[in-house]
Amino acid sequence: MNLKPFPDSDRLTIENVSDASVTASTNDGSDVIAGLTQKPKSIPSYYLYDDRGSELFEQICELPEYYPTRTEAEILKDYGSAIAQTTGNCELIELGSGSSTKTRLLFDAYFGIASRLRYIPIDVSAGMLEASAKQLLADYPALEIHGLVGTYEQALQHLPSSPLSKRMVFFLGSSLGNFPPKQCQELFQQITASLNIGDYFLLGLDLQKSKDILEPAYNDSQGVTAEFNYNLLDHLNRRFNGNFNRNNFQHWTFYNSQQGQIETYLCSTKPQTVQLKDLNLTVEFEEGEPICTEISRKFDLGQMEQELAQQGLNVLKTWTDPQDWFALVLCEVKGT
Ligand code: TRP
Repeated sequence: MNLKPFPDSDRLTIENVSDASVTASTNDGSDVIAGLTQKPKSIPSYYLYDDRGSELFEQICELPEYYPTRTEAEILKDYGSAIAQTTGNCELIELGSGSSTKTRLLFDAYFGIASRLRYIPIDVSAGMLEASAKQLLADYPALEIHGLVGTYEQALQHLPSSPLSKRMVFFLGSSLGNFPPKQCQELFQQITASLNIGDYFLLGLDLQKSKDILEPAYNDSQGVTAEFNYNLLDHLNRRFNGNFNRNNFQHWTFYNSQQGQIETYLCSTKPQTVQLKDLNLTVEFEEGEPICTEISRKFDLGQMEQELAQQGLNVLKTWTDPQDWFALVLCEVKGT
């Protein structure tokens, strides 16, 4: 006997909402050229995540020093049902779904109050989205998935219609911290614009804390984070026919307390010239010159509540872990 209500394929839709011009400009390396020809130099962080980088990031999430993933999961485990009770049954829309691991904790909570659920994962990686969607459908027989492949902005403009149910957009992992302030504001505006009054937004935030906890989280004793950072150079070499020598760069990270952010760099250990042939690019480095590879902002709850409110998002409830290291903030879209 087949216990599934209907076949997996009937429960899965994947829609490509990306606009070709945007995809092209992020794939042709023009962003690498822009980053390496400005001062200070930088490389867009998404180049950290090739197959090897994604594997290393999974390892980072397991490290004793890297507390964010496990702390957020702990809050979702402890308060998932409180979140579901507060919002009631709704459609779940995830920004940057990736492997959807933590999402399962939310499903477990929402299946406590609903017999069926619709999940709308949004991700730029079609392969990742499809693979994790299939796994989820196999594990949750009462789940329906409508995935959107594209940027957050594109996908939020193309949400499938849902005249009856409420919706909750969620953005976990404190990925917001990797956006500059102006882009955060724009994202909040896009979220508000894509939802109805009374819908919800759930946001995971890594909070300000001592640098003695923050810095090791980005520079672990086993060197996994350093390897993750160096792999970016290997990735650029493969992708653009380059000759970065990772042995001539040093992983460097520190907590900038004035800006309230972790900054991660690769520093050139000597004067050198690097070429990326497929980009027709030659880059000169001075001894000690840094390339910024990631900014990870840490948040103050009171300040974030104000910023959310300014964009039409009213904070209903906030849940934190016992040490107040990480927070899940639930907002409601308010009328203007
Ligand atoms: N962007 C994530 C964060 O800010 C992932 C990450 C963990 C990361 N360690 C890193 C990014 C080191 C760059 C370098 O927490």
